[in-house]
Amino acid sequence: MKIAIIGTGTVGSALARGLKQSPHKIILGARDAADRATQSLAADVGGELASPREAAGSAELVILALPWDVAETAVKALGDLTGKIVIDCMNPVGMVGGALGLLLGHTTSGGETVAAWLPGARVVKTLNQVGAEMMADNAGLPHRPVMFMAGDDPEAKSIVAAVLSNLGFEPLDAGDLTKARLLEPFGMVWINQALLRGKGRSWAFAAVERT
Ligand SMILES: NC(=O)c1ccc[n+]([C@@H]2O[C@H](COP(=O)([O-])OP(=O)(O)OC[C@H]3O[C@@H](n4cnc5c(N)ncnc54)[C@H](OP(=O)(O)O)[C@@H]3O)[C@@H](O)[C@H]2O)c1
Repeated sequence: MKIAIIGTGTVGSALARGLKQSPHKIILGARDAADRATQSLAADVGGELASPREAAGSAELVILALPWDVAETAVKALGDLTGKIVIDCMNPVGMVGGALGLLLGHTTSGGETVAAWLPGARVVKTLNQVGAEMMADNAGLPHRPVMFMAGDDPEAKSIVAAVLSNLGFEPLDAGDLTKARLLEPFGMVWINQALLRGKGRSWAFAAVERT
């Protein structure tokens, strides 16, 4: 499957590296394809490099790894993604009352907002619940890290689950896309621990159960 990664920053580059050994073809969607670091990333992961719109248009699965404050303009500029699977890993964060917080919640979510920007796309919310380092490489942890996903299209979720497995995660279906309202605050739990409570970035959530 051809996977477009839109945004080649911290998360986009981590996902490209995490999928390097997978059977998927990677195309990076970068607004500056002449950037040396982006070219080096493409060479490192054996991927193609194109504009965000060309990359998204050529792929079956599109991963959005953009800052929330540019997301609406950048996502709408990708064009018609009808029928494509879209992974939204963005947390809709900004400054709220002087601190980093969610700009949306309870009655909607970033995932649902993205779906409204991309009518006909099969949006799955996931990969927002852990730091980028664990997306690039989570081998050697005592438990397989869990990654919840939320979306309305069962086939899209089963394909995304396989990609999450390629990345070393245990995929867990959280339900329909409205469950992004749960997954985005859950992402904030990781952010709060990592950035404000001294836990650092080298950890992930795991689901452990009695067998
Ligand atoms: N960082 C994490 O550990 C983490 C974990 C989970 C989820 N997330 C979420 O993932 C998203 C990306 O985070 P990040 O840390 O990867 O951010 P980042 O390092 O700032 O990277 C953002 C990328 O978006 C690109 N970009 C910015 N404006 C654009 C536009 N108008 N059109 C096309 N591309 C544009 C940037 O391109 P240039 O290089 O040209 O500036 C850059 O490649 C965020 O929504 C964040 O909440 C982050």
